[in-house]
Amino acid sequence: MDTSALFNIGYGLYVLTTRHNDIDNGCIVNTVTQVTSNPLQIAVTVNKGNYTHELIMNSCVFNVSILTTETPMFVFEHFGFQSGRTVNKFANCEAEHRAVNGVLYIPKYTNAFLACKVNNSIDFKTHTMFIADVLDAQVLSDKPSVTYDYYQNHIKPKPQTPKPSNGKRRWECKVCGYIYEGDFLPDDIECPLCKHGKEEFVEIFDAETPKQSPITTNMNQIKLTDNIFYVGVNDRRTDLFENHMELPNGVSYNSYLIVDEKVALIDPVEAGFIEEYLFKVKSVLQGRKVDYLIINHDEPDHSSSIAAVLREWPEAQVVGNAKTFAPLEAFYGPIENKKVVAEGETLSLGTHTLQFFMVPMVHWPESMVTYEQANGIVFSNDAFGGFGALNGGIFDDQVNLAFYEDDMRRYYANIVGKMAMQALKAIEKLGGLEIKMIAPSHGLVWRSNPAWVIGKYTQWSKHEGEEGVVIVYGSMHGNTGVMADIVARGAAEAGIKEVKVYDVAKTEISFIMSDIWKYKGVIIGACAHYANMFPNMNLLTHEINEFKPKSKCFGIFGGMSWSGGGVKTLAKYAEEGQWNLVAENVEVKGAPIREEDWDKLYNLGKTVAEAILKV
Ligand code: FEO
Repeated sequence: MDTSALFNIGYGLYVLTTRHNDIDNGCIVNTVTQVTSNPLQIAVTVNKGNYTHELIMNSCVFNVSILTTETPMFVFEHFGFQSGRTVNKFANCEAEHRAVNGVLYIPKYTNAFLACKVNNSIDFKTHTMFIADVLDAQVLSDKPSVTYDYYQNHIKPKPQTPKPSNGKRRWECKVCGYIYEGDFLPDDIECPLCKHGKEEFVEIFDAETPKQSPITTNMNQIKLTDNIFYVGVNDRRTDLFENHMELPNGVSYNSYLIVDEKVALIDPVEAGFIEEYLFKVKSVLQGRKVDYLIINHDEPDHSSSIAAVLREWPEAQVVGNAKTFAPLEAFYGPIENKKVVAEGETLSLGTHTLQFFMVPMVHWPESMVTYEQANGIVFSNDAFGGFGALNGGIFDDQVNLAFYEDDMRRYYANIVGKMAMQALKAIEKLGGLEIKMIAPSHGLVWRSNPAWVIGKYTQWSKHEGEEGVVIVYGSMHGNTGVMADIVARGAAEAGIKEVKVYDVAKTEISFIMSDIWKYKGVIIGACAHYANMFPNMNLLTHEINEFKPKSKCFGIFGGMSWSGGGVKTLAKYAEEGQWNLVAENVEVKGAPIREEDWDKLYNLGKTVAEAILKV
């Protein structure tokens, strides 16, 4: 919507006068309209902040003096740019001209006046419309009435823009020309001269105040709210996250900027993206500085650009908790300007207040989340995040969630899942806050349906598996792979519709771990390798015992040629990890070409499936 269209309505300009308890006052209005001719009634709408409004509310009488094109600027300044609360606007009247209602009218620079008595009013919250009977009306001259357009083009002086001072930004009130200087324009600003609000102010740019960036203010601005911006980056060039998890769909490093009286930058990004990142941040800030750099989490995928950010804004205070700075300084050297916050402590930025909550081990001991109180936004760092670069859609309502769910669960299972209890505690702690939006450090921003991601994280943290079986095998010459197919057949015929079979040598571990987290059944097979098992399987079993997915039904199988070792090693991992084995281990010599071996493998799948269906 282009609200400047409203400027094309043909407004006149009037002095609205009234009198109450022997106090005369008046102001400039442009809202006078005749509403009926019989009875003769007019309406005028007045800002409640005006002293004239207060007086009319009590006196119920007013006059409208219709200004002409000959009206000099000082008349507008006299009645429009000062308040009757502090100035008697009629103190130096040479002669009083009162109408029948006892109210003064303006005899000069006017062509008529209407004397009125209020018979009704409508409350518009910020304004009141007074509807009044016209008691008297007189023509005073034949000069044409002034319009708002005429005033703007012929009477109002062209603003003499003051030179910028100390790098301050400037905004001009479009109504009266008043210029406000500051770091930012407050949401609740009221023009001290004409009482109009923020919507009437426009920022002034001139040769002396160049924009800091060649781009326009709207480019690259992704808004969570009017003053909170997404300034994250996409990484589609890193092959392996933490150098071991594949990123076929990339990953995002999210960062957020809150622009208020003070500016806060929440978690920077991976250092390889610093140029793009600083470009985005500066394009929003337009020359302002970062006052606070909030570090929710020390891990280098977020913090590795901290030195570059502090080079750009060296006066910024780095905000962390008691556990933040030792690791941070171990990575990047001394940090001078530190601010340590405690559990529940707040930090005011102006109209926004940040509050900090500790969520240790989600994902590191120093992890915390930052809660923005005014809009109910949780900047949750790794919690509620996911893999997958943000492909245009930044917010949950801009994408098909099914497209991201697998990447979210894979991220959870391999990064946060080990600390499922802590994640659950963090979710419970955040449950006490009014959460309207979740803004994590990776993946989608949840502005429409944060309950969806909270529900998923709760389900995964509680180890609530779905009906299905993951069968993973390690096979040197294919025989253990054939066994996996027989096991899968038993599971499917027992009624399991989601059976996933993986070759551990082909599929990167994080994908397998994600499905292990997802499903209730896990059947693992390994051939022997010397006296142990197929080597790649060691990494998977290590990860299972490290992350400890719970409430699973496990099974074990494997092949051997001479001494065995696959099943024996798997059994050792099972004992160490306290796997819930629900069927007899199956070990096959050579290939599964004997009926009894085939039956054992088939029954392994069937037994695990039946156990799942009973849970
Ligand atoms: Fe995204 Fe634990 O860092």
